[in-house]
Amino acid sequence: MIALNSKPKVIFEHIESESIKFSDLAKSISTVGAYYPNFKNWLYFTFRKEMIEGKRSIIIARAGNSIAGLSLLKHSLDEKKICTFYVSPSYRGIGVGHQLMDASTSYLGDKDKDKDIAITVAEERNSELYPLLKSKGFSIENKVIGYYRENINEYFYSLK
Ligand SMILES: CC(C)(COP(=O)(O)OP(=O)(O)OC[C@H]1O[C@@H](n2cnc3c(N)ncnc32)[C@H](O)[C@@H]1OP(=O)(O)O)[C@@H](O)C(=O)NCCC(=O)NCCS
Repeated sequence: MIALNSKPKVIFEHIESESIKFSDLAKSISTVGAYYPNFKNWLYFTFRKEMIEGKRSIIIARAGNSIAGLSLLKHSLDEKKICTFYVSPSYRGIGVGHQLMDASTSYLGDKDKDKDIAITVAEERNSELYPLLKSKGFSIENKVIGYYRENINEYFYSLK
């Protein structure tokens, strides 16, 4: 018998209301907390509050009942930003990152055409995210040591 490794079907959904369970969301991106102090508080309080106010939203990649990836977006008067971008380890290497990034930049790109789209990346994750960001047209604008954590660089990217 030949085993065929078929790609899971992944669908992308844009969520603007509080219709998602934040506990599921927090669980699927729990490893991100290692790079950002107080990540959970930020997610439950700042992010959720501003989502209700229409300043933030989420693009979620779903594979059946599982969360394959998440892109947490900010689109306020001040800035357009991908706050968190994450593909779950079991769904990596099959193009979810490409599709999730396209969905994120396309949504933010339509918002306020005069503003650049920003994303920042922790030093430990930069080699992983750099090829994807570069292929989508992002460039590194700055690198700030100690921005979130002592002695650790945070890379600031933008897409014009
Ligand atoms: C980086 C990441 C988004 C890639 O997701 P993915 O679904 O595997 O990506 P794709 O299969 O769509 O591949 C996208 C590109 O990423 C690059 N890439 C993926 N994994 C990589 C790795 N480990 N190292 C270097 N480049 C990598 C490849 O260049 C690939 O493009 P190509 O195959 O067309 O050349 C994913 O590994 C991830 O979420 N990592 C953790 C990110 C994180 O910690 N985020 C929180 C802070 S914002």
